[in-house]
Amino acid sequence: MSPTSCQTAPPRARRVKDYIDCGKIVSTKLDAENATRSGWNDVASGSSRQRRYTRPVSGFGQSLRREFRLEPGVDFINHGSFGAAPVAVLAEAERWRSRMEANPDDFLRDVLPAALRAAAAELARFVRAEPTDVAFVENATAAISAVLRSLEFRPGDEILLSSQSYGAVRQAVRFVCDRTGAKPVEARVRVPVSDRAELIDALVQALGPRTRLVIVDHVSSPSGVIWPVAEIIALARSQGARVLVDGAHAPGQLELDLPALGADWYAGNCHKWLFAARGCGFLWSRREAQRELHPLAISHAYGSGFTAEFDWTGTRDFSAWLACGPGIRFLQALGTEAARAYCHSLVVAAGDQIARAWGEPLGGPPHLHGFMMAVRLPPRWQRAATRENAAQLQSLLMREHRVAVAVMPIGGALWTRISAQVYNSAQDYERLLEVGLRGPD
Ligand SMILES: Cc1ncc(COP(=O)(O)O)c(C=O)c1O
Repeated sequence: MSPTSCQTAPPRARRVKDYIDCGKIVSTKLDAENATRSGWNDVASGSSRQRRYTRPVSGFGQSLRREFRLEPGVDFINHGSFGAAPVAVLAEAERWRSRMEANPDDFLRDVLPAALRAAAAELARFVRAEPTDVAFVENATAAISAVLRSLEFRPGDEILLSSQSYGAVRQAVRFVCDRTGAKPVEARVRVPVSDRAELIDALVQALGPRTRLVIVDHVSSPSGVIWPVAEIIALARSQGARVLVDGAHAPGQLELDLPALGADWYAGNCHKWLFAARGCGFLWSRREAQRELHPLAISHAYGSGFTAEFDWTGTRDFSAWLACGPGIRFLQALGTEAARAYCHSLVVAAGDQIARAWGEPLGGPPHLHGFMMAVRLPPRWQRAATRENAAQLQSLLMREHRVAVAVMPIGGALWTRISAQVYNSAQDYERLLEVGLRGPD
């Protein structure tokens, strides 16, 4: 709904209400036309109505790029770092923003609380959780920091991560350890990874009687490897440790049943693989672990319970959270299973082809990956495996070759990490393959 279409309500007295009800009055002719043009239509869903994405989309690959705002001419094979939201989802976020700007006072005080819980309920359904166990946060970083800073650590306590843990998570653990005297312990994971058992062994061997918290990736950032989290959670909890899953990459990429995993907390992003607008993450918490959990910013609802505290952490733009459902529905309109099968087979085929051409290893076998795979860079591209050198090469690939791909140091070498999203096709990986063979100069 554009603000213009809402502004068509003529009598002054009704105008504010029409703005407020903006999301509900799509049945007017103009609204219906706008909705159809944007691809969204109101359809009955049980006793209520829901906006569904009904624009016919042709097959996966190049033809789907027009559903996104990606710059033409760039091989965008790094969806993993920051995601990319479809135009249709951004339009739904804008609809919410328009509603808020029409009457911020009424929206933030009286409309938002229920709208936010409805959005959380839709996300909860998608991850098979109870709505009261799910709260939105800005991103996975905020969710992980909220857990770390809510727990009380003592000198000698250990927080277990792995060498595949995301850099920002490692820093958050350092921060907490510096303040409390707790100790970070890093389980070493060898890349290439050969099987699930190797991942379980790596973490379990580093578990000890002092391990208070285990932070385990669901999908690791550098390698794109999927961890057997359910097994690791069971083992860690059986030894008295609590478990936080870093699921930054999992929602959308993997089928999720959060309660069944058995963790204490699960931090997820919707803006990576669930087509949400940027700034849409969430925190799931086991019921018994909610009482001690608080958001990073304490506000009015302190002491009023998990969702109340996280739902309001001060004034902000809530549109990305409120438009989380449209991201889920966009995926469902494409066909969740078909989209997952497409992305997985595309990244496996591309990864295999690049690795063979370069004569370099992949980060792991296909069955340990979803939509991301790492390939070690050829010798001509290698230099000291530092974050700075990786960042320089990544920028060079973008600027000189128009390839948006991640470059990361793993275990003493530099690797590229490719992603596959529904708008990618085999040709998006060709330039990287060729440039890799030629070298950076
Ligand atoms: C494994 C992992 N955890 C956490 C994050 C942080 O995500 P965000 O920047 O959305 O907070 C990332 C980002 O790529 C990640 O890969």
